[in-house]
Amino acid sequence: GAPVEVKIDKVEPGQLVRVEWRGSPVWIIRRTQEMLDSLPLIEGRLRDPESREPQQPDYARNQHRSIDPEWFIAVGICTHLGCSPQFIDRNFGVAEGVDSGFFCPCHGSRFDIAGRVFQGVPAPTNLVIPPHYFVDSETVLVG
Ligand code: FES
Repeated sequence: GAPVEVKIDKVEPGQLVRVEWRGSPVWIIRRTQEMLDSLPLIEGRLRDPESREPQQPDYARNQHRSIDPEWFIAVGICTHLGCSPQFIDRNFGVAEGVDSGFFCPCHGSRFDIAGRVFQGVPAPTNLVIPPHYFVDSETVLVG
């Protein structure tokens, strides 16, 4: 499949936009400072802290799992059995100061706002980060 070019200059802080790449949903989220501040709060509760799946690009192995901390780009498919997790942007309810993340309605897997899976849920690994790069400050190419 061809890479997908996405204009990101109109995306508001806290907003998720969906695009399609190779038949899969891809999410692009412009994270707020609050979202970024929540990442260190759940370090001890992660199931796959090193993003060990081999399809993860190297730039997905840091705490924010992205090239630029502000921009989170992930394949929107649960790593358990492939359902579509929901984006939760308030009252995520996993820890104090952690208000956003992803919840899979099929079997209850939870991921933080960097797509990192929590311990004690069925999904074995973090959400997949697709290959992508920033063409310029307004444009990202997925693929
Ligand atoms: Fe998401 Fe099972 S498919 S928890």
